[in-house]
This record gives sequence, C-alpha cells and structure tokens, in this order.
Amino acid sequence: MSKNIQVVVTGASGFVAKNVRKHLSLNEFNLISISRKNFQKLKKETKIVSSDYKEKDILPKIKNSYALIHLVGIGKQSIKNDYNSINLGFTKKIIDLCKKAHIKKIIFTSGLGVSKTTSLGYFISKYRAEQQIIESGLNYTIFRPSYIVGKDDLLTKYLKNQIKTKEIKIPGSGNYSIQPIYINDVSKVIAKSLLDNRFEKKTLDLVGSESLTFQEYVKLFSMNKIKIKKLNLETCYNDAINNPQSKISVDDLNLLIGDFKGNHKKLSKISKIPFESIRELLKSGRLLQ
Ligand SMILES: NC(=O)c1ccc[n+]([C@@H]2O[C@H](COP(=O)([O-])OP(=O)(O)OC[C@H]3O[C@@H](n4cnc5c(N)ncnc54)[C@H](OP(=O)(O)O)[C@@H]3O)[C@@H](O)[C@H]2O)c1
Repeated sequence: MSKNIQVVVTGASGFVAKNVRKHLSLNEFNLISISRKNFQKLKKETKIVSSDYKEKDILPKIKNSYALIHLVGIGKQSIKNDYNSINLGFTKKIIDLCKKAHIKKIIFTSGLGVSKTTSLGYFISKYRAEQQIIESGLNYTIFRPSYIVGKDDLLTKYLKNQIKTKEIKIPGSGNYSIQPIYINDVSKVIAKSLLDNRFEKKTLDLVGSESLTFQEYVKLFSMNKIKIKKLNLETCYNDAINNPQSKISVDDLNLLIGDFKGNHKKLSKISKIPFESIRELLKSGRLLQ
C-alpha cells in the first residue's frame, strides 16, 4: 500500500526521526531524509546532508513528494539557537519549502502542554508553529507528544547513567505525573497518519494510555533495585540556571513538574493501534538493554 509513496523527513539524525525512518523504510515508503550531518542511509532512502537547508539544494530533490514529516526542534535554548528561530522560524521555512515543492501534507510534532494560554517560551514557540501550519492551507496532522521513550531517548539515557552511580536523583517530590508513549507506537502512528484521512487537519495528543507519577516511573524503570534520592526543587532550578554542565535544563524541569495529561482515548480511536503498556514495558526491562 505504501509502495512508491515518497515522504520527506527533516531532522533525520534525531531520536524520533531515526526510528520513524526505520519504520517507514521497512514498510516500503520511499524516503528523502534531510540532516545537517552525515548519517547512514536506509533501504529506499535518498540522503540529503545540508547544514542550512538551502532551498536551491533541497527543492529540486523533494519536488512533488507526497508528504513531509517535520522533526526538527529544540527543547533547550542557547545564544545561537533559540526557540523562536528553530521551533518557529525553521518551521515557517519548511512550510514554505512544502508549498514550493507542491508537497500537500505536513506532519508536525509539537508538545504536550501546548495551548493558547501557555506562558512558557518553549510552548509559545510550538503553539505559534502549530498556528503557522494550520493557517498554511496545507493538509496537516499535528501531534503533541509527551515523553517519547525508547532505548536511547534523553530521559532513558539520563536514567541509565544515574543507575550506574547506584542512585537515581529526582527533582522534588516525584509526585507529578508523566504520560509516556513508546517510540515504536509513535512510529506506527506517524506512518498511519500519512495515509489515513481520519488524521487530516487534526491536532492530537501523542500519549500512552497510562499516567504515572515520576517516582513510580523511575522505580519501575530501575526494576525497584536502585535507591531514589529526592532533590530539593529550589536546588535543582538553581543548578539548571547557573550550571552550564547541568544535565537538566530549566525547561526540562518545567515540563516534568507541569504534570501534563493528554487524551489517549482520542488517539487510540483514530489510530486503531494496540499501544504498548508503559508499565509492562518498564517491568520487562527492555528499556534497560
Ligand atoms: N522526544 C520526545 O520525547 C519529544 C516530546 C515532545 C516533542 N518532541 C518533538 O519532536 C521532535 C523530534 O524530537 P527528538 O526527540 O527526535 O529530538 P532530537 O533527537 O533532538 O532531534 C531533533 C533534530 O532537530 C534537528 N535540529 C536541531 N537543531 C537544529 C538546527 N539549529 N537547525 C536544523 N536542525 C536542527 C537535528 O537534526 P539533524 O541533527 O539531523 O540535523 C536534531 O537531531 C522535536 O520537534 C521535539 O520538540 C519530542
């Protein structure tokens, strides 16, 4: 069914993109993947390496593709790369490219917690990017993901490194909740959204079926074998603000403590995918391998 359908993926070396590309390649999509750095090409994939996504280098290669999956984004700002220029500005550039290349459909990953009343800079940039997409006239599906977990996402890598020190430090009480979703399910949903018109012009939370307190998540992740140390939240924020080497940024803390919950039922009804239980996934120890 997906044979000969040409799909463009931006941010090809990122965590989500690597997994989505693999899934699409296995399912016989033709891929054109774009990254700023060199990466390993998959079956039925054309590789574009471009440091700045210059129109003249990219446009001729992606012309008339069926859809574009936009996976460029940042969750931490720096002087060089801020939310406005990457999460919003880069998305505008990609919408423009889609129009010029006659690509009619765009898939975008925003963030769980994005809303028109938000006051967080990260969410504001994602909200404005969503609005640009909705107003673009392109066919679109916007996903608002919670923590997407697999073997090598940031949260999993952070927790694996902590396990090596025989103690996992968590910010504050750990009583705030997260609603993670397994990366393989994310890949399946994104693939389905390319072809299934039930996803057309929709904004959907990309969340698993279970909401867990962070403390419970960490306990299950470490198979109840590692000591948990609760850090004073004020100390965590102070470190995130003042220590450039801090592993947790201010926005990481904001997203974690924000206690965001999403509508899994809607996603499940539209996608008709049997989602992995995150509790079972954690209990199986598969994320630790
Ligand atoms: N992972 C999650 O749990 C999660 C949750 C909510 C939302 N999201 C969103 O989903 C998308 C993918 O997330 P991810 O976890 O795969 O993130 P990621 O691993 O950090 O990948 C994002 C990619 O964006 C590209 N990028 C970053 N800065 C750029 C810049 N200045 N110019 C051009 N490209 C740049 C890079 O691609 P190249 O290195 O290939 O150039 C990078 O690999 C992001 O928009 C993110 O905000 C993710």
